[in-house]
Amino acid sequence: MLDEVSTSIPDMGRAYYDPLVQDAGNGLTGPGGALYRYAIRPEGYRLDDEDFISDSWQLKRQPDYTPAEHARWRLLFENQRKMLPGRACKDFMEGFEQLEHLFKDGIPSFDDINAILKPATGWTVVPVPELIPDNIFFWHLENRRFPAGVFIRGGDPKTKKVKEANEGRAPEFVEYTAVEDDLFYLQEPDTFHDIFGHVPMLMNPFFADYIQAYGAGGRRAIEYNRLKNFGSVYWYTVEFGLIEEEGELRVYGAGILSSPDETLFSLYSDSPHRIKMVPERVMRTDYVISDFQETYFVVDSIKALYESTAGRDFTPIYKKLPAGFTYATTAALDTDVIVTEGTQEYKFCGGKGKPRAVKHMEALREAHRR
Ligand SMILES: [Fe+2]
Repeated sequence: MLDEVSTSIPDMGRAYYDPLVQDAGNGLTGPGGALYRYAIRPEGYRLDDEDFISDSWQLKRQPDYTPAEHARWRLLFENQRKMLPGRACKDFMEGFEQLEHLFKDGIPSFDDINAILKPATGWTVVPVPELIPDNIFFWHLENRRFPAGVFIRGGDPKTKKVKEANEGRAPEFVEYTAVEDDLFYLQEPDTFHDIFGHVPMLMNPFFADYIQAYGAGGRRAIEYNRLKNFGSVYWYTVEFGLIEEEGELRVYGAGILSSPDETLFSLYSDSPHRIKMVPERVMRTDYVISDFQETYFVVDSIKALYESTAGRDFTPIYKKLPAGFTYATTAALDTDVIVTEGTQEYKFCGGKGKPRAVKHMEALREAHRR
């Protein structure tokens, strides 16, 4: 059974609702009243207030998945597991090896994961319907609970492609192979991203403390209306971070590790910049949400990442930071320690879906044999 939610949600005060606070909340109305991404699940599935633990956005249990949903997980898992050796960092691989047996047969049970994760670092994974409001997200992190979405990507019955492929099929026989292309592009955090991408790193004690400290810092960022800047640090580390290891670049970011193409792009493409991570620099830097990153920030070790951020009071920085971002996603500054300066070819040809970008990715896949 999942742990009871034992601490109360902090009152974020007026700051949280201040319209000047950027990215505060996601426009949803809260448990029971929201249009969940569950809409993509077989018809007739819905959530009510009693499915949640109070107003924590935490669901009491994972849903029962259909065979088609388990099959989609297996497809993603088998594809991405092959990408890991020599590309995912050592800390990720160590965590992954302890969890792999739970991952290989379909969407894993969070209770089974927690039986391994909790004794390792005190963290648990808790089920949530989808992206949750920032203050609730931070509060869970502060309490060493990682909110993981329970839906799995692909197969939105509203898209024409899937509709056509599945016409007349009962929900349990719906197939998703028609949307294989979409499966490997991460639209929003789903259960594959949250579990496969994030949980192995939560097995690492320094990373576990880093994420908890990040959650604790969220309140201060909201207070100073610098949530977007603070979010950039999460984005460029937890989601899209690279690490220098044994003289090579490797990946620790979950956003990269749950996407085969971005794994190749981040490590081998000559298009993006790779720059040493400095929190103050990252906080001023815009990021890309609908395509590969144009810059990746590189840390020397997870311990160094922890030491450069956790426990630091960013208040003096927030006081100096202008609202919004100063640096474009493609900026390379004189003050940066540049690991590799990118050509930005992928960006300048228009990015995802454009003929030159497609060729760029084909060449990378060919060169790295996947
Ligand atoms: Fe994530």
